[in-house]
Amino acid sequence: MRKLALIGAEGMLGFDVRLAAQAAGWQVDSYDLPNFDITSSADIRSAVSAADCIVNCAAYTNVDQAETEIEKAAEINAEAPGKLGKAAREFNKFVVHVSTDFVYGDLTELPLSEESETHPLSVYGSTKLAGEKNIIDSGCNCAVIRVEWSYGINGMNFITKLAQLAAVYPELKVVNDQTGAPTCTSDMAKAIICLLEKQPTGVFNFAAKGYATRFDTALLIAEKLNLQTEISPCSSNEFPMTAQRPLNSKFDCSKIDRILDFERPEWQVSLGYFLQKWKDKIMSSQS
Ligand SMILES: NC(=O)c1ccc[n+]([C@@H]2O[C@H](COP(=O)([O-])OP(=O)(O)OC[C@H]3O[C@@H](n4cnc5c(N)ncnc54)[C@H](OP(=O)(O)O)[C@@H]3O)[C@@H](O)[C@H]2O)c1
Repeated sequence: MRKLALIGAEGMLGFDVRLAAQAAGWQVDSYDLPNFDITSSADIRSAVSAADCIVNCAAYTNVDQAETEIEKAAEINAEAPGKLGKAAREFNKFVVHVSTDFVYGDLTELPLSEESETHPLSVYGSTKLAGEKNIIDSGCNCAVIRVEWSYGINGMNFITKLAQLAAVYPELKVVNDQTGAPTCTSDMAKAIICLLEKQPTGVFNFAAKGYATRFDTALLIAEKLNLQTEISPCSSNEFPMTAQRPLNSKFDCSKIDRILDFERPEWQVSLGYFLQKWKDKIMSSQS
């Protein structure tokens, strides 16, 4: 059986990649803190040498905290992918490395392709961009998949936060000037499996089909969960955050569409399925 080393296996995306990989016939060896540290070259070498392929979902993902924990964010997001690439090159193993829309930071309205310029606006974005460069420069065979606006069943995320706020507050203001595509980690996992099977190299954008603002997303959540909260639009300036968020996260996914063996779902369809699953999970934990 083909062996997959799944790094960051306990995280939101890692959870769904494990399920998708097992369903596709991979034996999955899971690696995460505290037993495995991606900043340790020894830990990486031992995981890489024992596997046929590697998926790296590990990252320092606290976007606001990264502004002050710069060294730690750089160690995990920037330097570790370089170490991973070096080991993968030595043992000749294929890697899928996960990155983010935060590398772009583009102010235009155009959909972003893999060729678009990168202007990260935050420590998180610039460390993730450096990680992409380091793993590519290592010379290993790797695909970098940039994902965005993630939500999944195994973690808190902007969808579940919005749903919880909308259930409690009679009125809610949600920003209407950040545009992207809410994307379910189970769909990302399917795309990662396609990359593992076909082993193309280079950078690939992946997101659900269509575009939405955070405000549009909140309206759909309220509709699907039958919440009566009154949702109104506002600008990002009304909710200053420690780290600046990109306004344009509209992906052009035509490159990965040529690799995928499924059609990317519309963001509304995947979000509808997810909300039903999430509601069932909450209700079963309460009964
Ligand atoms: N969430 C999003 O909206 C989003 C958007 C775009 C891209 N991404 C990217 O998607 C990927 C997966 O993110 P996610 O949403 O699944 O995040 P997550 O839930 O925070 O998962 C990341 C995992 O990596 C682990 N990790 C952190 N430092 C580590 C280390 N030194 N050694 C080994 N494991 C370590 C974390 O463990 P601890 O929890 O113990 O720290 C966690 O289990 C990341 O590359 C992220 O940058 C995420």
